[in-house]
Amino acid sequence: MSTPEAAVSTAPARTAHHRRYLMCKPEHFTVNYSINPWMEPTKPTDTANAVAQWQKLYDLYIELGHEVELIEPLAGYPDMVYTANGGFLIDGRAYVPEFRFVERQGESPAFAEWFRAAGYDTVMPKEVNEGEGDFLLVGDVILAGTGFRSTGDSHREVGEVFGREVVSLNLIDPRFYHLDTAIAVLDPVQGTENGGPERANIAYLPGAFDDTSRAILEERFPDAILVSDEDGSVFGLNSASDGYNVVISPRAKGFEKQLRERGYNPITVDLSELLLGGGGIKCCTLELRGAK
Ligand code: ARG
Repeated sequence: MSTPEAAVSTAPARTAHHRRYLMCKPEHFTVNYSINPWMEPTKPTDTANAVAQWQKLYDLYIELGHEVELIEPLAGYPDMVYTANGGFLIDGRAYVPEFRFVERQGESPAFAEWFRAAGYDTVMPKEVNEGEGDFLLVGDVILAGTGFRSTGDSHREVGEVFGREVVSLNLIDPRFYHLDTAIAVLDPVQGTENGGPERANIAYLPGAFDDTSRAILEERFPDAILVSDEDGSVFGLNSASDGYNVVISPRAKGFEKQLRERGYNPITVDLSELLLGGGGIKCCTLELRGAK
């Protein structure tokens, strides 16, 4: 049996990469409709607490040396805090979301306008898609989720927009309705010349996927961290990594240990209030790649 110390000393050295994120202060946060199993409009919410918890995440990103841009929260759009759904951006191009539910559809024009003003080549969608909630860039490949929100047709569209390979994955558990609730990208940059590992790695919750998708993940990511149902159920995978620091929920104890053993630096931030809307750390974080 190896001791935890031994595991740490044999883990590869990790490099933190600079990130630029888009966030939205939850000034209008509440739960007054339900579009996922976490949302119970009869349960009370505390907007001030949501803002205070969100602020801790914002402050941590700044402390880690990342850049954070802000988009103005719109009254009447309590889910706008989950900016991961606001788009998908690579190399200065922004693919705008087409939300599945009418409750969020008014967010799209605001995000599109923000991307245009920030100098992104902004592409309007034809297909239903929920941005980085369902599209994750891993190395050169886009992992794309479907089953609850983004459609299979959006997988084709996102592939055309960015000219990249898209790997479609089927989500089957309604609690994990976006791909970013079931997969965490640990090393977004691939290639040792960039200070990244030879192969970009992920962590995932096997039970969130159908058999076909699980087989694809096993084949593509033989070294992935497999997260327990317990850690997955507290949104442990809904985390943000810079290649070294991984910001995760304090409730995901097992995942925290797994990350440490692999040489990552887990840092916990509690977003319990925002979990009432069915979102966590990653949901509140949209990565801005390129254009600046
Ligand atoms: N209430 C929001 C919705 O159901 C939560 C979005 C969470 N976002 C995410 N990237 N998983 O759309």
